[in-house]
Amino acid sequence: MSAQRKDDHVRLAIEQQDTRSGINQFDEVSFVHHALAGIDRPQVSLDTTFAGISWQVPLYINAMTGGTAKTGVINRGLAIAARETGVPIASGSVHAYLKDPTCADTFRVLRQENPHGFVLANVNATATVDDTRRALDLLEADALQIHVNTAQETAMPEGDRSFGSWVPQIEKIAAAVDVPVIVKEVGNGLSRETVLLLRQLGVHAADVGGRGGTDFARIENGRRPLGDYAFLHDWGQSTAACLLDAQSAGLPVLASGGVRHPLDVARALALGASGVGASGVFLRTLLDGGPEALIEQLTNWLDQLAALQTMLGARTPADLASNDLIIHGTLRSFCADRGIDTGRLARRSRSADTLHNTTGKAQ
Ligand code: FNR
Repeated sequence: MSAQRKDDHVRLAIEQQDTRSGINQFDEVSFVHHALAGIDRPQVSLDTTFAGISWQVPLYINAMTGGTAKTGVINRGLAIAARETGVPIASGSVHAYLKDPTCADTFRVLRQENPHGFVLANVNATATVDDTRRALDLLEADALQIHVNTAQETAMPEGDRSFGSWVPQIEKIAAAVDVPVIVKEVGNGLSRETVLLLRQLGVHAADVGGRGGTDFARIENGRRPLGDYAFLHDWGQSTAACLLDAQSAGLPVLASGGVRHPLDVARALALGASGVGASGVFLRTLLDGGPEALIEQLTNWLDQLAALQTMLGARTPADLASNDLIIHGTLRSFCADRGIDTGRLARRSRSADTLHNTTGKAQ
C-alpha cells in the first residue's frame, strides 16, 4: 500500500501541474519599483544563512519521493541535478525505508549521486528518535525535515487519525538529534501560532509549506473511489500569507508551496524567507526532460534570481527583506484580519539603514 501510494503521488502531482489554475497569492505581492535602486551584478551574492546552516543559494529541491523502483530513478535524477547546481535537496518521507529496509537504495541514491551536497532527511511527526537517527544515517543527512500534514492524512483513504502525539514527539526529536531540525507543512501552511509553538518546541526553522501549488488533500481525494473529500481541496493558507503571518515570530522561516518561477523566489525572500523550495515544478521538468533539463532550469532560476537582486539593489537574499512591497487583493484582506501592517511593508526601505543604492544616499 505504502509503495503504491508513492507512485500514485508522483502521477497525481504531475496531473496537477497540468491542470491547476486559480489564484496564486504570490501574484498579490508586488515590489515597488525604484528606478535607481539597481546595483552591479558582481556585487550580488546568493549566499544565505539561517539556523546555523549556510547555503550558497537560497533555493532547494523540496521533499518528494523514494521507496519504489520508479521513485528511486526519480531520486537519482533529482540528486544529479542537485549535485551539478549546488542546490540543497530533501528526500521524500523515509518511512517507506523504516518499514521496509529493502528499499534503502531508492533513498540512498540521493547521497550517492551527491556526496558533497546538502541533503535533508524527511520523516513524519510520529517518528521515534531512533527512527529519525536511522533516517539521518541512511542519507548522511545535514539536516532533518519533519513534515506535518493533518489535511493530507484526513483526506488519505488509509490516513492517520491521531495527531495528538505530534507536539511532544517533535519536541523529543528536536532535543535528541545533532542536526538542525526544520518542521514543514506539505502545502496547507503554518500559521503564526504554529510557528511560535515550533519555536517553543526547540525546532530550528519552519518551512511554511503553504497553499498554492501541489495540493495533497486533492491528491489523496483523487485516490478515493468516491472522491468524497473534495471539500478539503485548497485547504489552508497560501505561502505568501504564511510568510506575512510569521514575520518577527522569532524563528527562521523557509518558503515552499506554489513557487513557480524566480520572481516567486524573490517575493518569498522579500517576505522574510531564508530559503525557498519547490517540488512539483522541478518534478515536472525532470520527468519531461531528464536531469539535463532540471540542471538547466535550476541554473536559469539562480541566474535570474541574481538578475532580480541586481535590479532591486539587494546584495544578498536577506537584503530583499528591506525592499518595499505592495500587498493586493485577498492577501490584503488576510493581512487586515491578522493585524499585519501592509503600509509598513510598502515604505520599509525609507529607514536609513536599509537603503540599497550604490551611493548610500536616500532613494
Ligand atoms: C511531495 N511532498 C512531500 N513532502 C514531505 O514532507 N514528504 C513527502 O514525502 C512528500 N512527498 C511528495 C511527493 C510528491 C510527488 C510531491 C510533488 C510533493 C510535498 C512537497 O515537499 C511540498 O511541500 C509540496 O509539494 C508543495 O510544493 P510545490 O509542489 O507546490 O512546489
